[in-house]
Amino acid sequence: MRFATTAFGLITTLATLVSADNDALQKYSIYAYGINATFIPYGARLTNLYVHDKNNSPRDVVLGYNDPAQYVKDTATNHTYFGPIVGRYANRIRNGTFTIGDTEYHVPTNEHDGQNTLHGGTVGYDARNWTTTQHNTSSVTFTLLDPSGNQGFPGAVLTHVTYTVSSPPRLTTRIVSVSLDSYTPIMLSTHIYWNLGAFQSATILNDTLHLPYADRIIDIDSILDVTGGLSSVKLPWQSPSLPLNFTSPKQIYEAVLYSQQCGAGCTGIDNAFILDRPPYSSAEDASAPVLEWTSADTGITMKLRTNQQSLQLYSCGGQNGTIPVKASQGGGYVEKYGCLVIEPQQWIDGINHPEWGQTDRQIFGPDSPPQVLWASYDFSAQ
Ligand SMILES: *[C@@H]1O[C@H](CO)[C@@H](O)[C@H](O)[C@H]1NC(C)=O
Ligand SMILES: *[C@@H]1O[C@H](CO)[C@@H](O)[C@H](O)[C@H]1NC(C)=O
Ligand SMILES: *[C@@H]1O[C@H](CO)[C@@H](O)[C@H](O)[C@H]1NC(C)=O
Ligand SMILES: *[C@@H]1O[C@H](CO)[C@@H](O)[C@H](O)[C@H]1NC(C)=O
Ligand SMILES: *[C@@H]1O[C@H](CO)[C@@H](O)[C@H](O)[C@H]1NC(C)=O
Ligand SMILES: *[C@@H]1O[C@H](CO)[C@@H](O)[C@H](O)[C@H]1NC(C)=O
Ligand SMILES: *[C@@H]1O[C@H](CO)[C@@H](O)[C@H](O)[C@H]1NC(C)=O
Ligand SMILES: *[C@@H]1O[C@H](CO)[C@@H](O)[C@H](O)[C@H]1NC(C)=O
Repeated sequence: MRFATTAFGLITTLATLVSADNDALQKYSIYAYGINATFIPYGARLTNLYVHDKNNSPRDVVLGYNDPAQYVKDTATNHTYFGPIVGRYANRIRNGTFTIGDTEYHVPTNEHDGQNTLHGGTVGYDARNWTTTQHNTSSVTFTLLDPSGNQGFPGAVLTHVTYTVSSPPRLTTRIVSVSLDSYTPIMLSTHIYWNLGAFQSATILNDTLHLPYADRIIDIDSILDVTGGLSSVKLPWQSPSLPLNFTSPKQIYEAVLYSQQCGAGCTGIDNAFILDRPPYSSAEDASAPVLEWTSADTGITMKLRTNQQSLQLYSCGGQNGTIPVKASQGGGYVEKYGCLVIEPQQWIDGINHPEWGQTDRQIFGPDSPPQVLWASYDFSAQ
């Protein structure tokens, strides 16, 4: 009783603290030598990220809109999820259904005519107005209190996301979430659309990608829901996944033009790659890059390190030349295969596959450690 009262008091206090009425569309910028980035609280979203190319010219390497109001419009129309935090549960939940203990939960099925949940339901973390709780020259923190029962999820969850830039040019994202009062799924991610060529070419197909630890993918059906199977990208008897073998560097077109493991009628990449790494690599300082990508046009190389067990990659097969490219990237429109979305996250729909042994990384209660996601992106050019 005493605990319940205290917990209630705590939540009320937090709610007051994090409901400060800041302008959700105000831009916040951070910078360090050779890198700068801009964010808005609407979705705790990255809108611009400048790094230098091989000629030492600054290039904006992420997709977005010039006018922050466009993001609100986008949510109501094309809902691209350009640059936000996605949650409370990133990616898809089959049938919007999961069970914790003896209770079956149903959350809004906002995709594929009500067959699954995408990125946390009808109003996910991408469409929430986060509170800016810290901002200085090199770092910004956004905070969200997600009340119990919101979008059908059990329990209140408090999340802080901190973005930092440093030199040599690095962007670090750190997301810390705590379940305040009951057991709930928590799986957040960043949803950044990248084009390291800053749209000098219409597509990313000539770029080179290396995923040294991505030996397996999580199998999906025609609407991208998880089936429970896991396939090797290296074994000939599972040949449909072979184009997704990036365990040595290769050009992106070698996968994108041939792989059809991305839902009905799709050619390209829209897959969760499992990072099969040695255990020590979960320590931040000891971690080796899990993704390395070089642009054929700008010579910009990005190296990604993360503590997550999977990377969802999407090669923008759904783009069709209707969404504008930012003026900072020369204008025009985003063409098919004009970008790559990279989402460091846990094994998708793991809450419905206890046999994978991922539950401790996806279900959190008030007595659990926080859910922590970090990722760092290092940039160089030659
Ligand atoms: C970031 O760098 C670019 C290129 O130098 C510049 O145009 C832009 O104004 C900078 N943004 C901020 C917020 O400093
Ligand atoms: C959404 O896409 C349509 C074309 O499919 C385009 O005309 C419209 O401008 C887009 N909306 C936004 C907010 O960009
Ligand atoms: C083009 O892409 C936009 C954004 O993804 C989508 O909303 C629209 O339906 C697509 N249009 C066509 C004709 O496929
Ligand atoms: C699918 O969701 C519906 C509606 O929420 C629910 O009634 C049904 O039991 C679920 N089916 C399965 C197989 O979980
Ligand atoms: C967030 O702020 C935007 C811009 O002010 C507003 O249009 C939107 O309705 C707000 N969203 C929520 C969920 O309150
Ligand atoms: C900015 O804030 C972060 C987080 O509180 C802190 O680690 C960092 O030292 C600060 N940087 C500067 C330049 O004040
Ligand atoms: C890829 O590079 C080749 C050779 O430089 C060039 O001819 C082609 O246009 C490029 N393709 C794309 C999609 O950029
Ligand atoms: C996967 O890529 C590795 C590294 O390039 C290569 O040694 C191996 O033969 C490839 N496997 C298949 C089945 O293509």
